[in-house]
Amino acid sequence: MAAQQIITALDVGTKKICALIAEINAEEEIEIIGVGLTPSNGLRKGIVVDIDLAAQSISQAVDKAERMAGIEVGSAFVGIAGSHISSENSHGVVAVTGAEKEVKQSDIDRVMEAAKVIPISQEEEIVHVLPREFIIDGTRGIRHPQGMSGVRLEVETHIVKGSSTSVSNLVKSVRRAGLEVNDIVLDQLASSHAVLSSDERELGVSLIDIGGGTTDLIIFQEGNICYTSVLPVGGNHVSNDIAVGLRTPVSEAEKLKILHGAATTEIIEKEEKIDVLKPSGQDSHKVNRRYLCQVIQPRMAEIFQLVNKELQKNGGRDRTPAGMVITGGASLLPGSCQLAADIIGLPVRRGEPEYVEGFSDIIDNPVYIKKDGKIPRPVFATGVGLLLYARQNKNYSGKPKRKNKEVVNSFFAKLKSLFDDFF
Ligand SMILES: Nc1ncnc2c1ncn2[C@@H]1O[C@H](COP(=O)(O)OP(=O)(O)OP(=O)(O)O)[C@@H](O)[C@H]1O
Ligand SMILES: [Mg+2]
Repeated sequence: MAAQQIITALDVGTKKICALIAEINAEEEIEIIGVGLTPSNGLRKGIVVDIDLAAQSISQAVDKAERMAGIEVGSAFVGIAGSHISSENSHGVVAVTGAEKEVKQSDIDRVMEAAKVIPISQEEEIVHVLPREFIIDGTRGIRHPQGMSGVRLEVETHIVKGSSTSVSNLVKSVRRAGLEVNDIVLDQLASSHAVLSSDERELGVSLIDIGGGTTDLIIFQEGNICYTSVLPVGGNHVSNDIAVGLRTPVSEAEKLKILHGAATTEIIEKEEKIDVLKPSGQDSHKVNRRYLCQVIQPRMAEIFQLVNKELQKNGGRDRTPAGMVITGGASLLPGSCQLAADIIGLPVRRGEPEYVEGFSDIIDNPVYIKKDGKIPRPVFATGVGLLLYARQNKNYSGKPKRKNKEVVNSFFAKLKSLFDDFF
């Protein structure tokens, strides 16, 4: 591998577009050198509904990240979500070729192609064919079959499909923003790289990324992906419920949710009044904080109940003893882990990606209302996960086009001083 490579991740979410530019050195260590965050326009429930608006938002996020990094990037790994995504498990089998009967890369390619032969409608396309395990002459659980001896090679795969139109509109938006697409990656697959431990995956775990418009689920059993799905409900629905329930503008509802909300009323200990703006946007009136949480709780409970149903379909609690990890912006509501654990009946923890410590202090943030003076790390789960996915798959080719020393120096000076302060 070349001494240093550049990779760019693009999390095209319903709430925000997050562009991350990272350097990978010869030791395969990742250093994020550029972050761009902008409000997302042109998306609904994770799907591009207006290419021009989406392209503008993407372009702004990438520009910001490029200015911070001091380089221009030409391509990105792009996350995808939306309820058009569906998945199924599939099996492939081939005979090992060659006189020495040793599995070669060409055999692996052929067996993966064989597994791809599944019924697929004209409106759909395959986004991922993920190997779950290889089987050689009946021996299961093989992760790296290359070089092993055998005559019959089988693979169990997890296949992720998406609507061709939705995939193509996402790709068009990225291209219109001036970037080529290195790869399209399912959001929760990316997030899983950022927040799950290998022990959790081995034991069996589920991960949900609760964003603005969608809740993305991925289940691992015995180290393998066994199920993925996207539910068309997320944090924006909670804000809308608050706007209706407390009769206040949606922007005010969003603020109330973040500053005073909780996923369960159980954690509200004392009587507390909060100011709520009237729909006119002029006067405000006092409302009990407990009432705000009573509006939030049913929607959060609905999300976890929907997830629980999906879990039950896939073997339920017995197959995921490591429990559940929740991430994404809406996972930040206090009490979410407790509510989820009560509904699912398994331990639940919040998942946060590495590498982003301190970023919230330096990036321009027109997206999130800050609660404790910082942008919380779970909102970067998909972005960081895309970088880790790219590193694992080693197919990054996003060479920097131009180095602008002046910008590099000034941003690094700023970055360094802030990090120095932080540590
Ligand atoms: N501190 C907080 N407390 C509660 N909710 C929060 C907090 N910060 C952000 N959110 C909520 O998180 C949601 C956005 O999360 P995120 O940035 O992960 O979404 P996204 O990736 O853009 O959307 P999606 O993945 O659904 O397409 C919004 O509904 C926002 O209100
Ligand atoms: Mg998201």
